[in-house]
This record gives sequence, C-alpha cells and structure tokens, in this order.
Amino acid sequence: MGEQAGGHDRLVEPRRKASRSSLAAHAKFLAEFITHPGRMGAFAASSRALAKRMADQIDWSNAQAVVEYGPGTGTVTQELITRVKPGAKFFAIERSAELAAICRKRLPQVKLYEDSAENIVELCRKEGIEQLDVVISCLPWASFPEKLQDSILAATIKALKPGGTFVMFGYQMGLFTPAGRRFHSRLPRYFDNVRRTRVVWLNLPPALVFMGERKQQPVIAGA
Ligand SMILES: C[S@@+](CC[C@H](N)C(=O)[O-])C[C@H]1O[C@@H](n2cnc3c(N)ncnc32)[C@H](O)[C@@H]1O
Repeated sequence: MGEQAGGHDRLVEPRRKASRSSLAAHAKFLAEFITHPGRMGAFAASSRALAKRMADQIDWSNAQAVVEYGPGTGTVTQELITRVKPGAKFFAIERSAELAAICRKRLPQVKLYEDSAENIVELCRKEGIEQLDVVISCLPWASFPEKLQDSILAATIKALKPGGTFVMFGYQMGLFTPAGRRFHSRLPRYFDNVRRTRVVWLNLPPALVFMGERKQQPVIAGA
C-alpha cells in the first residue's frame, strides 16, 4: 500500500499543472485495458464532462469523508479535489500499480492507496474515518464477476453511513448488456432512490451517472 497526504489548499493549487494531459498516461491506460480488460472496463480515461457530471451529484457542503474507487490516471479525481471542502477528508483507492503511479505523479497532493476497494473498511480505519459520507465509484462493475461485485458492495455498505451518497458511472451500452442490467438491478438492495442522469455524450464511450443513498437496513448478499 502506498499513500501520500495533503491538505485542502495543496489539493487545489497544483490543478493547472495536473491538467496537462500526458500522452504517456493515455498509452498506459490503453495498455492496462489490453492486459486487464475485466479490471479496466474502458480503453480510455473519462472525460472532464463526465467527471463534472459525477461531482455535480454530490452535496459537498455536507461531505466530511469522501472516497473515490478506481481513480486510474486521475481524471475524475482532478475534478473531485476542487470540490472537497476545507477540513474534509478525501482519499482514493486504485488497484493497478502502474495507474496509481501515474495518478500520484499527476496529483501528488492526493492520498492514494494502492489497494482494492474490497478493503475500504480497513482503509477507513487507517484514515481514522468512522463512516463515509460519500463513495464515488469509477469501477467497471459490469465487467466484474458477481462475487467481486458483492464483496465490494458489502464492504461499501459497511463503510458508508446510512443515508450516505453512492455515485458511480456506467457506459450507456451497459444498459443493454445482460451483465450491466444484472448489476443495475442489484443496486436497490443497497441504496434508496436509485436514479440516473442523462447520457454524457462527451465521453468515450458515452456514459451516464447513477446514484443513490445507502439504505438504513440493506440486504447484504452472502451475509
Ligand atoms: C474504467 S477505469 C476508470 C479510471 C478513471 N477513474 C477514469 O474515469 O478515467 C476503472 C479503474 O478501476 C480500477 N480498479 C479495478 N478494480 C479495482 C478494485 N477492486 N479496487 C480499486 N480499483 C480498481 C482500474 O485499475 C481502473 O483504474
């Protein structure tokens, strides 16, 4: 596990530097997709438009503890850190060592764990966070086996406070694939008021954002 710390001012300041997109980062993302398609679920990083659409779903004024799953090269992270309010805690969890290295280089002010989102409870403990207010997922859920979906969702439910916000994106085509439909049909077990935004066409592939609030008493698969 690797980690780096930073306060709110240091999160926002280096933004200009961070926004210089790197060809090497795009190449690495594509290479990761070729090597681990099921873990990546996409051949290109998310667009700024999608990152903004995700961030717009969150009530940042009440978000004291926020986590991002799967930051990749940091495109969504870059938007999120401009919204985190001073004094709030934010960290990210990335499974790929290669992408974590790029994200750290691009956004050195972000606390980043090279780990799996399955370990969110343990990582919150490390951070001194009792319960999260917001979980932002960039994970390719529809590409995951059901067992992994269940274990990440179960851990998320433990870490997220009742009524806490869960935000994720999915690709538009996932609305029509059996795996995508199966995953989306599971969300109401864990979250109330599950809803989605309009399609973000300025993304490759076009995507939409889903969100819901953690149920008071969710039915946890396998529990
Ligand atoms: C679709 S990419 C999104 C990357 C980036 N957030 C973006 O929007 O461009 C999915 C990311 O999730 C990461 N990932 C996959 N499984 C993971 C897991 N179990 N825990 C944490 N990250 C994971 C992948 O390595 C990859 O960086």
